[in-house]
Amino acid sequence: MENVKTDQKGQLITLEGPDGAGKTSILEKLASLLEAAGYEVVTTREPGGVTISESIRKIILDVENTSMDNKTELLLYIAARRQHWVERVLPALAAGKLVLVDRFIDSSVAYQGYGRGLSVNDITWLNAYAIDDTKPQLTLLFDVPSEVGLARIESADVREVNRLDLEKLDMHKRVRQGYLDLAKADPDRIKLVNANQDLETVVATAFDLVQANLAK
Ligand code: TMP
Repeated sequence: MENVKTDQKGQLITLEGPDGAGKTSILEKLASLLEAAGYEVVTTREPGGVTISESIRKIILDVENTSMDNKTELLLYIAARRQHWVERVLPALAAGKLVLVDRFIDSSVAYQGYGRGLSVNDITWLNAYAIDDTKPQLTLLFDVPSEVGLARIESADVREVNRLDLEKLDMHKRVRQGYLDLAKADPDRIKLVNANQDLETVVATAFDLVQANLAK
């Protein structure tokens, strides 16, 4: 897989991590710092970012859709990715923007591959198909221990842990492992950031990594 094609002037940077890593707040603050440093930044997210992909997001995340098959789930994420790629990411890159995306191809490998147990080879191929055999210039992986991530999400919960909570922890651990394996396999692109620190420190680390990458 190639980096985003050289005829694109812009840069694609993706933010990844297990639920509870704080990605969304990090993205907002990181974007402000980059704008203040003079970059033209576009922020967006997956699944979503454009009307069709936001509609797909609603279907995927609807708590009523308990019967959704794992492969259906994967294909919906991929469909949302393709539409978002064509309608939002490519035009922004062509206009020379710095595009920051909250979740991207690595989420499919971590969640649908390691989390749901689908074939990582199939997912890698589908990702490549959706984004025309390219990959981001830089991926920031915000890592937190699974217990910390889940506690952040469920901090209001004071009841006893039930079977579903245990399944969630197990899934969460597999997703985290998936991310760590991806980072090990592609250390040039994927940079690990310890997100189990205060937000300002995490954002400052992310900012330094982006600046170092843009200076390359
Ligand atoms: P968000 O909460 O970060 O917006 O993401 C929504 C959920 O979708 C989150 O639990 C991660 C999941 N997800 C996948 O399982 N596969 C994917 O390809 C993407 C983009 C997200």
